[in-house]
Amino acid sequence: MCFGVKVMVWMEYPTKPLYDLPKREILIQGIGTRLMKPIGSLTKDTLNALKPCQHGAEIHGAAKQSGFKLQEILDFSSNVNPLGPSKKVLNAIQEAFVEIAAYPDSTSEMLRYTIAQHFGGITKDNLIIGNGSTELMYLFAETFLKRGEKALMAAPTFGEYERAVRKTGESVKFVRLDKGFQLDAEIFKREMIGCKLVFLCNPNNPTSKLISQDILTSILDAALAQDILVFLDEDFLEFVEDEKNRSMIPQISKYPNLFVLRSFTKIFGLTGLRVGYGITSKEIAEVLHASKIPWNINCLAQAAATVAINDITHLQLTAQLIKEEKAWLQTELSSIETFCFTPPDANFFFIDIEKTGLTANALKHRMLKQGILIRDCSNFVGLNEFYIRIAIKTRNENIRLIKVLKNALNPG
Ligand SMILES: Cc1ncc(COP(=O)(O)O)c(C=O)c1O
Repeated sequence: MCFGVKVMVWMEYPTKPLYDLPKREILIQGIGTRLMKPIGSLTKDTLNALKPCQHGAEIHGAAKQSGFKLQEILDFSSNVNPLGPSKKVLNAIQEAFVEIAAYPDSTSEMLRYTIAQHFGGITKDNLIIGNGSTELMYLFAETFLKRGEKALMAAPTFGEYERAVRKTGESVKFVRLDKGFQLDAEIFKREMIGCKLVFLCNPNNPTSKLISQDILTSILDAALAQDILVFLDEDFLEFVEDEKNRSMIPQISKYPNLFVLRSFTKIFGLTGLRVGYGITSKEIAEVLHASKIPWNINCLAQAAATVAINDITHLQLTAQLIKEEKAWLQTELSSIETFCFTPPDANFFFIDIEKTGLTANALKHRMLKQGILIRDCSNFVGLNEFYIRIAIKTRNENIRLIKVLKNALNPG
């Protein structure tokens, strides 16, 4: 029957693809002509208003807009390892080419085992792998939010938490960060009452600020006492010098309500391969495994991530680079008097540019004309149009950034 519909549509409009049909009139074999309802009326109500979240790293659009080739644009809007993946990882991907003809391991068992060994104190049963850590935000919300339940998050923070919740049809509550972009634990805990789950980001995107251990622990304790689930995004924590003492991964046995998110996108530079993971109680991991789609991590991504996590040399090289370049950029950016910011905790700077007299959008466009892409943060909930985010890259790239930035601020 379905086949019949398709054939008749193509016969009626032989030169146009199905999605380009000028009207909704279709001929169904054996039934005759009828008007098909608009697709919007067939869509779940909760999805009709859902829009994509705007991110940095839109270099394809930026290239089109600026006339530069993709490779000519220096992308400071994406906070990933400026060295990219290591040679060892690229070799592992090449060796895995032979696996492409078969389905990948649907549960990413070897990768989970390797990650568990890397951290110690956990087993592969405490792990779930996602197609990028973003997939796990959506999976988590979809698995745990029942009808009428709410999720709490800070503002500003990473936009996909909100979208993941809205996609389930349930609602979001925001708690504004204070003037210094810190989380007020007492307000957060008060607003958390009655919520089903909370999203926290440590260090936070876009503010590049860590949440103190005291605040995290007090929120976790309060959440546990009320059966509230805590989704804690540590995707940028590997860029923090004090990472080991800041991570909540060792706390998962104490907090059965805790899910810690990590990614291979950021420090490992496997950005385009899409691999992220969650470390959590065996019970939560088991439910998420039952709920996820099959074969979500392709074989090249599994092979690359398995090697990347133990490539200590590359990680140390990256950590050293970020440390030096953060200090260099801190000095250079501080010399711009109209920039207002505090030292970042993560691998990116978050800057209030209101005193420059330019909006973030205007500055972004002036810089793009010179081949540099920065993040205009105006679309983050809780921010006005005067905030930008700039990633830390290599020295030569950072030198070019500063030059272009100064030109853009003082043209002519
Ligand atoms: C805080 C945070 N978490 C998660 C992600 C998404 O990471 P992934 O590439 O692993 O999906 C981003 C991307 O920018 C992010 O900023």
